[in-house]
Amino acid sequence: MQVVSTVKEVRDIVAGWRKEGKTVGFVPTMGYLHEGHGSLISKAVEQNDKAVVSIFVNPMQFGPTEDLESYPRDLEKDSKFCESLGADLIFHPEPEEMYHDGFSSFVDMTVLTEELCGLSRPVHFRGVCTVVSKLFNIVQPDRAYFGQKDAQQLAVIKHMVDDLNMNVEVIGCPIIREEDGLAKSSRNTYLSAEERKAALILSKTIFMGQKMVEEGETDAVKLVEAMKKNIETEPLAKIDYVKAVDGLTMQQVTELKSPALVAMAVYIGKTRLIDNFMI
Ligand code: PAJ
Repeated sequence: MQVVSTVKEVRDIVAGWRKEGKTVGFVPTMGYLHEGHGSLISKAVEQNDKAVVSIFVNPMQFGPTEDLESYPRDLEKDSKFCESLGADLIFHPEPEEMYHDGFSSFVDMTVLTEELCGLSRPVHFRGVCTVVSKLFNIVQPDRAYFGQKDAQQLAVIKHMVDDLNMNVEVIGCPIIREEDGLAKSSRNTYLSAEERKAALILSKTIFMGQKMVEEGETDAVKLVEAMKKNIETEPLAKIDYVKAVDGLTMQQVTELKSPALVAMAVYIGKTRLIDNFMI
C-alpha cells in the first residue's frame, strides 16, 4: 500500500492501473478511522481491483465555530488499518494541495441541503460537494462508497453525481454500531465516560422509533414528538433536530411512507452526534 500527498502522484498511480484495465473503488474520509470506515474500505476492496482511501480533514465543510482544529488525526494508525483491510493507496493531501491560493470554484446544492444538517450547518454541504467533486476528479473511481450514517450526505452526493453527470457509481453502506448501539464516529472520542453513557440516548431513541414504525405508526409528527420526548429524559442531551423527511428530496413529511428518513442531531455536552434510520 502506498501513501501519497499530491494530486500528481494519485493521477500517475491510477493511470498505471487504468492501463492494466483495473477497476478502482474509492472511499473518501476525514481519517481517525474506525470500523464504520472499515466496512466501506472492505467493500471497495471486495468489489474493485484497486481501492483508494482519501484522508483529508476538509476545512471548507466546517463552520467558523466548529471543531476543525480539534478534529482527531492519526495517520500512522489509519495507514495500518487501511493496509490491514487490503487498500492499495491512501491520498493524504495538505489543505494547500487541495485549495491553492485564489481558489474560487464551488459545487453547491439547493433543496436537499435545506433541512437537517444543512439547516444547522449552513456552509457544510457546499464544502462536502466541492471536496468530493475534486476528489472524484482526482481519483476518477468507478465506484465510491459512503455510509448511511451520514444519510443526508449520501443523498446529496448521489444527487450531485446525477445532476452533474459524474461518471461514478455511488454505493451506500449500512451504519456500523458499537456493541451497545452507539453509531461509530470519529467524534465519539470527544466524549467523557459520563457523556459516553449519555450518548446511548441517540441509538436507543432510533431503535424506539424503528419499533414504533414496525408496529404501524404512520404519523411523522407523532413519531418525532415521541422520539424528542425520549431524548429529553437524558439530562446531558440537547436536541439540535429530530425530523422525518422524504428519503430522496430531504424535505419534511407528515406521513411515514417509503422512502423516508428519520434523522437526528443531538448535542451530548459540547459534542454533536447524529443518527438515523430509513423507512
Ligand atoms: P467521515 O466522517 O470521515 O466519514 C467518511 C465516510 O465514512 C462517510 O461516508 C461516512 O458516512 C462513513 N461512516 C462514518 N461512520 C460510519 C458508521 N458508523 N457506519 C458506516 N459508515 C460510516 O463524511 C466525511 O468523512 C466527509 O464529509 C467526506 C465525505 C470525507 C468529505 O470530506
